[in-house]
Amino acid sequence: MTHVVVMNGPNLGRLGVREPEVYGALSMEDLRQQVASWAADLGLEAEVRQTDSEAELVGWLHQAVDSGSDVVLNPAAFTHYSYALRDAAAMVTKGGLRLIEVHISNPYAREEFRHRSVVGPVATGTIAGFGFDSYRLALSALAGGR
Ligand code: DQA
Repeated sequence: MTHVVVMNGPNLGRLGVREPEVYGALSMEDLRQQVASWAADLGLEAEVRQTDSEAELVGWLHQAVDSGSDVVLNPAAFTHYSYALRDAAAMVTKGGLRLIEVHISNPYAREEFRHRSVVGPVATGTIAGFGFDSYRLALSALAGGR
């Protein structure tokens, strides 16, 4: 069974409280439940993680490489400036695994500093702007095979 690690970066643990006009009313716990149900339907084994720490996120990407797991990554604000995260994400895709960058909102329709992703160029693909459905679409792409 394909194993997928769904990784979420800083401030996404505050979903439901943080800017509900942008991110909606649902929490990280709601996302965990939705991902569990989508993964079961798609025949995937998925685990959801969230951290505010760049170092922890980089470590999780190293682990994904070592364990051969595909990744769904919402790098949150790190998207826009973390070369450390980009380098770690590149190891995933250069290692023959798939990494899908996701965003709940559409960063291109927001402030200018959100228009650039340093992760996008090394990702397998990017899905943005569909709320939590961005994660469902990413899982569905991974379940669709290579
Ligand atoms: C986000 C978009 C980023 O610009 C922002 O910093 C986030 C969340 C999204 O899911 O829409 O924290 O990645």
